[in-house]
Amino acid sequence: MKKFVGKHVVIAALSGIAGLAASAHAADVVGNAKAGQGKVAMCIGCHGIPDYRTAYPEVYRVPILGGQNAAYLSNALHAYKKGDRHFDTMRAVASSLSDQDIADIAAYYAAQTPTSKNNPDK
Ligand code: HEC
Repeated sequence: MKKFVGKHVVIAALSGIAGLAASAHAADVVGNAKAGQGKVAMCIGCHGIPDYRTAYPEVYRVPILGGQNAAYLSNALHAYKKGDRHFDTMRAVASSLSDQDIADIAAYYAAQTPTSKNNPDK
């Protein structure tokens, strides 16, 4: 039993350190649009379709991401992840992304133009 508790303390301490390192690092994460291209597969189903509306949790307009400002996209994703911005599906999606994923995806979408509707990369 003692050994069991000890292990948990060590894990808690380690994840505390990892959390600190991650937040200290967050400011200097640099997005890579090329890497982002490989990370948007799960976004395309909703965000890649012009005028698409989701049916969940109610009929809802899905915003176009291509051509939006990278800082805006990154802030939006962090806000969903933290729960500052509420939308169930986006919260689930954003929670699965690391800071680096968010930076890459933001760089990728920012490099597109809003009118590149048939862009296969979108
Ligand atoms: C199930 C459909 C769905 C999927 C999958 C999805 N999104 Fe969304 N997303 C939405 C909807 C609907 C909204 C609008 C929600 C709101 O108003 O808060 C949204 C909002 C956003 C916003 C805020 C846009 C704005 O103009 O404020 C960003 C950024 C975003 N999504 C990025 C992504 C990324 C990146 C992925 C993939 C990693 C993704 N989404 C996957 C449906 C989806």
